[in-house]
Amino acid sequence: MARQVENGVNPIFTERWSPRAFDESTLSEAELNRLFEAARWAPSAYNAQPWRFIHARRGTPQWETFLDFLIPYNRGWAQRASALVIAISQEQFVPPGKTDPISTGTHSYDTGAAVAYLALQAHLAGLGAHIVTGFDKEKARTTLGVPAGYQIESAIVIGKKADPDVLSDDLKAREVPNERKPLASIVAEGKFSFQ
Ligand SMILES: Cc1cc2nc3c(=O)[nH]c(=O)nc-3n(C[C@H](O)[C@H](O)[C@H](O)COP(=O)(O)O)c2cc1C
Repeated sequence: MARQVENGVNPIFTERWSPRAFDESTLSEAELNRLFEAARWAPSAYNAQPWRFIHARRGTPQWETFLDFLIPYNRGWAQRASALVIAISQEQFVPPGKTDPISTGTHSYDTGAAVAYLALQAHLAGLGAHIVTGFDKEKARTTLGVPAGYQIESAIVIGKKADPDVLSDDLKAREVPNERKPLASIVAEGKFSFQ
């Protein structure tokens, strides 16, 4: 069933989805920077902006190295994408006027918001952005030289959408936008009460 626009929400939220069929095209640095620019404007606790992004584009020497972080299932479809981004978060920060670092406890939460902004901007740019957690985070940490104090959060597979025929039959069957729980299952007024 096609996603429905309900409660007057802007269609950008229902039209964005996570594709797996990509067309093997390349992406310019400027196109990618537009996505990071959107991420830059996400809200964060203390405005600490704990997100960091390390990327590789198809056609560059790093591309295969980044693909190798992915578990085989994700690599199977992501290899036709145009860019791979590793999202990491800084666990502590030094508040303005202080000298000692503190932990807000929200570095992952904040980085998730930034990644969501990135994904929405990708959609606006006519691209697909598919967030994945199925990758070897320790391999990414070692290979990319990510120091202690930074958490590896997710990988984001970005590309131009292609015909689902490029996928295996089982993935092709799943290449449609999925559904969501109804509002009453996630929102309650006044007390903990969900359907
Ligand atoms: C943190 C996170 C990790 C995910 N990991 C994977 C993954 O490893 N492989 C995959 O195919 N999809 C992955 N997804 C995509 C989700 O399955 C997808 O976002 C969800 O089904 C909602 O669909 P939509 O993004 O198309 O609206 C992940 C999404 C998030 C936010």
